[in-house]
Amino acid sequence: MKRVIDGSDVVNDYADASFSTAVIGWQKTHGRHALPWQNTRDAYRIWLSEIMLQQTQVTAVIPYYQRFLESFPDVATLAAAPSEAVMALWSGLGYYTRARNLHRCAQRVVAEYGGLFPSDPELLADLPGIGRSTAAAIAAFSYGKRAAILDGNVKRVFARVFGVEGYPGSKAVEDLLWRRAVALLPSENIESYTQGLMDLGATLCTRSRPACGNCPLQARCVAFASDRVSELPIRKPKKALREKSTAMLLLVDQGHVLLEQRPDSGIWGGLLSLPEIAASTAADDAVFDTALALIVARFGEMDDYCKLQPFSHTFTHFKLHIAPYRITLARRLHQAAEAGYLWYPQHKLHAAPLPAPVKKLLLELFGEADLLTPLN
Ligand code: ADE
Ligand code: SF4
Repeated sequence: MKRVIDGSDVVNDYADASFSTAVIGWQKTHGRHALPWQNTRDAYRIWLSEIMLQQTQVTAVIPYYQRFLESFPDVATLAAAPSEAVMALWSGLGYYTRARNLHRCAQRVVAEYGGLFPSDPELLADLPGIGRSTAAAIAAFSYGKRAAILDGNVKRVFARVFGVEGYPGSKAVEDLLWRRAVALLPSENIESYTQGLMDLGATLCTRSRPACGNCPLQARCVAFASDRVSELPIRKPKKALREKSTAMLLLVDQGHVLLEQRPDSGIWGGLLSLPEIAASTAADDAVFDTALALIVARFGEMDDYCKLQPFSHTFTHFKLHIAPYRITLARRLHQAAEAGYLWYPQHKLHAAPLPAPVKKLLLELFGEADLLTPLN
């Protein structure tokens, strides 16, 4: 069995030298070569740029990077600076944990490594604010170390090129992408390869409307060949919504509909809505009929009821299945005798404080036109 020669124990089943050859060749002619943190082997500068670029776009980083270096030209100066001065220069870049970690990292590099960043990606990854991918980028750009990056852009390129179906944020898919990233490392030109992957993800294989026509990987790209570029990588799967059911009662009489004041807390807090029968009760026909009769008797004498078209309403955290019932009364009690209930005139429903799906149901049921003209 062939194994990757980078110290890890990964089975090299994804190796393919032509991949890195294509990336390196493209980077040399079409990649970015004049970014402020390129053309140096100063690990301090490379580290600083990689931290800034973790969550911020290149164009936003450049002025911050330059101001930072003017104030803190080396890791010892940064380590010795008061944290207020570091935070002040970071101000506006966002994700301020990065700035605090940056400062702590500088102090550790001074204290533990005599001010020289280590070249071993594992040692780098042990420092504050440096994850596995950032450690590999620093080691590759500063020391020519053969180490694999896998940031968000690279995950997207890999997911498309290799037609990876799973969600790249999941542990299993991430592990698989790391295996590929390690297996595909070139035996030389690691700097151009690493920069090339970053440049591909940032300039060609962008999230939306990638420039496949100019892409050096097009001939081997599974997403391109199967016309699934816009579907890969798949988006974060939504958590299955919790589902609830309820029966809503439409008691209608002489141009009025019975509404119930909802409690102040909970969904639709404080709004008017239709009286409901809990789903558990509605599951059994006989139990439902009894519950319905009991409710209706408080407001009148039931003539008949019919089930209307059920529908669903989606909230942020759950989906509500609504089964509406229309009840016709033989006789209506003079007033809704109970606190919290009222007979509401149909023509005023437009302006009533109702939940949107309830208002829609009522407007559909009565027909919008009817609501404008009182029926009695
Ligand atoms: N994003 C992360 N690292 C980068 C780099 N070295 N150049 C351009 N964009 C990057
Ligand atoms: Fe990305 Fe298109 Fe290139 Fe495939 S062909 S890697 S989708 S840019």
